[in-house]
Formats: sequence, C-alpha cells, structure tokens
Amino acid sequence: MRKPIIAGNWKMNKTIAEAVELVRAMRRDLNAIESVESVVCPTFIALPAVADALAGTKIAVGAQNMFWAEQGAYTGEIAPGMLAGLCQYVILGHSERRQFFGETDEGVNKKAHAAFKHGLVPIIAVGENLAQNQAGETDQVVRTQVTGALQGLSREQVASLVIAYEPIWAIGTGLNAEPAGAARVIGVAIRGAVAELYDEATAQAVRIQYGGSANAANIADFMAMPDIDGALVGGASLKADSFVEMVKATARVRG
Ligand code: 13P
Repeated sequence: MRKPIIAGNWKMNKTIAEAVELVRAMRRDLNAIESVESVVCPTFIALPAVADALAGTKIAVGAQNMFWAEQGAYTGEIAPGMLAGLCQYVILGHSERRQFFGETDEGVNKKAHAAFKHGLVPIIAVGENLAQNQAGETDQVVRTQVTGALQGLSREQVASLVIAYEPIWAIGTGLNAEPAGAARVIGVAIRGAVAELYDEATAQAVRIQYGGSANAANIADFMAMPDIDGALVGGASLKADSFVEMVKATARVRG
C-alpha cells in the first residue's frame, strides 16, 4: 500500500521567522494525522529553523533543490551532504528550475544519484507545457523525463522515491488538471514507463503525486483517483489552514 504524501513546495516565499510561524501553526494538526505523510519544503536558509520546529513530530522536511557535487567551487550551490540531517526529501527537476535555471533530465539524474548517496529521498518533478499538451505530446514528454531522471537507479531506489506530475500550464494558474486526466497520465504514462524500465512491482511501489493549482477545494477529487498518491502543493501550502485542510481531506478520502 502506498501511503499518500502531501508536500508543500514553498518556492521563494517566507522569511525564516515566517517559515517557523507557519510550521508552528500547522504542526499539531499535521502530526495528529497518521494515514498521510506531510512534508514541508522551505527555502534553504529556513531549513535548520524549520527542522528544529518540527523535531519530535512525524512531519518531514524537504529541500527544493541541491547540486550533485560533494563540495567545491560551485558558487551559490548547496551540496547533498549539507542537507543530510536537516531534511529527508529533496525536490529535483521542478519545472521552474528547468525553465529559469537550465535544469536538464541528465542533471536531475545526477542529482538523484547524489541524493540517494546521502540518504535523501528525491521528489522528481515532471510535466508537459501547454504547447506540448495541446499537441498531444504529454505522454511522450513525461516518459522521456522519467526515463532520463531514473537512469542507473536500482529497483529499490526507484520504489522508494516520489514522482510529482506537474503539468506546467496548471502551476500557479488556478487551472488545475482534470483529476481523471491527471490520473491517466500518472497511471498509464508514468507508472507504465516505470514498469517498462523496471517491473510491475516497482511501478506499483513508487508514489506519484499530482501538482498544479491543487488546493483545499479540489484535493478530494484528486485523491479519489487510486493512482494519485498525493500532491505537490505551491500556493495553497503557504497558509496553515489550507495546507492542513488538504492533508485532512486526503486522510478522509484515503485514510
Ligand atoms: P501551485 O500549487 O501554486 O500551482 O504550484 C504547484 C507547484 O509547482 C508545486 O511544486
């Protein structure tokens, strides 16, 4: 059984003080929910304070990115070993990183290997843009991204990681994908690609989230789809009420 996972990607939002305030406002409610895993992904500089505020709870912490090298002359970057101990998850290949910072499938793959080496679980983000969606290229695009990202990873590693299907046209637009359509991409294209690359058991083990204008009002419709294992949430994760409600709604539907 795949445990649903709701992760808040705070992107470039919240000062350290605001980040701590947000997790303090959510931690008791989130920690009381057994059947859903909750994760918060603050900025790098807020990670230590957020990790401190969540110590002793079941709420996991994730980074939004990292570099693959162990250390060295990479101005502005953060190494995997610097994150180990501060967080359990790391988002890799978010479309905003692909769009604004030149992230490639090859880079995501190097980062995934580096994450496992340091005991971090990757949340690998994939998804098509509007033009690709309208051209009917969605399945091909996500299959290519998944195949590139997973190169050389073991069955056990793939079974333990998380994939987030985030159609770019749905991110921050208020235009969420239709749940049945997202479930088809997740179940057929993404899980199908994992089954072809590995085997059916691995494909059935990997957790695949939906992301893109997911919120407290629509999360239950996504979670009603058995192939969707949770959500990667941007805007709606920045307020305690809406994020807690999303985790509660997921527990109601799937708990
Ligand atoms: P929104 O929930 O704001 O659309 O962002 C989704 C996202 O990109 C999460 O990584």
